[in-house]
Amino acid sequence: MTVFAHLEPYAGDPILSLNDAFQKDPRPGKINLSIGIYFDDAGRMPVLQCVRDAEAQMLAESAAKPYLPIAGSEPMRRAVQALLFGAGHEAVTGGRIATLQTIGSSGGLKVGADFIKRWLPGSAVWVSDPTWDNHRAMFEGAGIPVHTYPYYDASTGGLAFGRMLEVVSSLPPRSIVLLHACCHNPTGVDLDAGQWQQLIPVLRQRELIGYLDLAYQGYGDGIAEDAAAVRQMASSGLPFFIANSFSKSMSVYGERAGALSVVCADRAEAELVLGQLQATVRRNYSSPAIHAAGIVSRVLGDPALRAMWEADVTAMRERILAMRRQLHGVLSARRPERDFGYFLTQRGMFSYTGLSGAQVDRLREEFGVYLVRSGRMCVAGLNSGNVERTAQAMAAVL
Ligand code: LMR
Repeated sequence: MTVFAHLEPYAGDPILSLNDAFQKDPRPGKINLSIGIYFDDAGRMPVLQCVRDAEAQMLAESAAKPYLPIAGSEPMRRAVQALLFGAGHEAVTGGRIATLQTIGSSGGLKVGADFIKRWLPGSAVWVSDPTWDNHRAMFEGAGIPVHTYPYYDASTGGLAFGRMLEVVSSLPPRSIVLLHACCHNPTGVDLDAGQWQQLIPVLRQRELIGYLDLAYQGYGDGIAEDAAAVRQMASSGLPFFIANSFSKSMSVYGERAGALSVVCADRAEAELVLGQLQATVRRNYSSPAIHAAGIVSRVLGDPALRAMWEADVTAMRERILAMRRQLHGVLSARRPERDFGYFLTQRGMFSYTGLSGAQVDRLREEFGVYLVRSGRMCVAGLNSGNVERTAQAMAAVL
């Protein structure tokens, strides 16, 4: 009996399929600048010592592995709130944030999307043009219409802030505005503090609901610095969602360590929201992962492990900045007629190179350099052994 023959074949995910193709490429000099993963200068995915130590503690305790509560581990949820908002923030001490540990920040985004569909059924989601490929799929998959607002200005390699504000100012009340809290994926172009200060009153006037995605905390300007927009939003008193991830900042991709927080008007509202978020999780995957919670709550909560982690994040951020400078230097020397300054101003793991799809294809086919077809480069895949070759290959196809 064939009941599945009518299915459409899955075209594959543009980022994950490319990463698979890279793994299968037999060429020894191939360079992976596709997926958003941090590699060290030797081209390896680091295992942070603080994470090893946290795991050693867990192993020594040899504790049982019960189901976590639906909302996840209490110590992790408290640690996440302190990390994002600052432990003394009035929104934290006032109990007006509903936080759940989730299956990565993707799990958080999806739980939030299902919650919006159920409890704010008239709301559509507005994402930046461009945004992470999976944002649209996630919200549309939850049955929510998705539209875009202007964001990236290809002529400058920077932000089209005026046009962004104009469109956001015209959205219907209760629209959801998806914003990258730092290190915008895929462009590396962020709002500065003054631009957030201009955006927040517009959200208030238009009664819009922010949905922040914070997957690269620490990769922009610092751990606390990269949470500045989150704190500005929380201080504004506006309701908003924030999904955050530890995949990149702790190099624990496969542990699926993330959280979803919803900042509410007051404690009573936060309790209602937490209850319905729990209902959403129970219907999805029941409860999150205990090992991820053990790592995150120990690394954030133990002062010695925390200090090691902060030093690691600083080193990862500085190495990416050094790669940006080197790439900029070689490209500027090879193609002096072009301005590559955007590599220095863009922040985090990604840069929008301005390469066309055809140029990206040439890079991959002729030089074994893998970028996402939009022209997104994962700068964190560069190292002292491949940055020169990458720059030369780019100069050749530009
Ligand atoms: C990326 O954008 O490359 C990462 O966030 C990995 C992913 O899941 O797409």
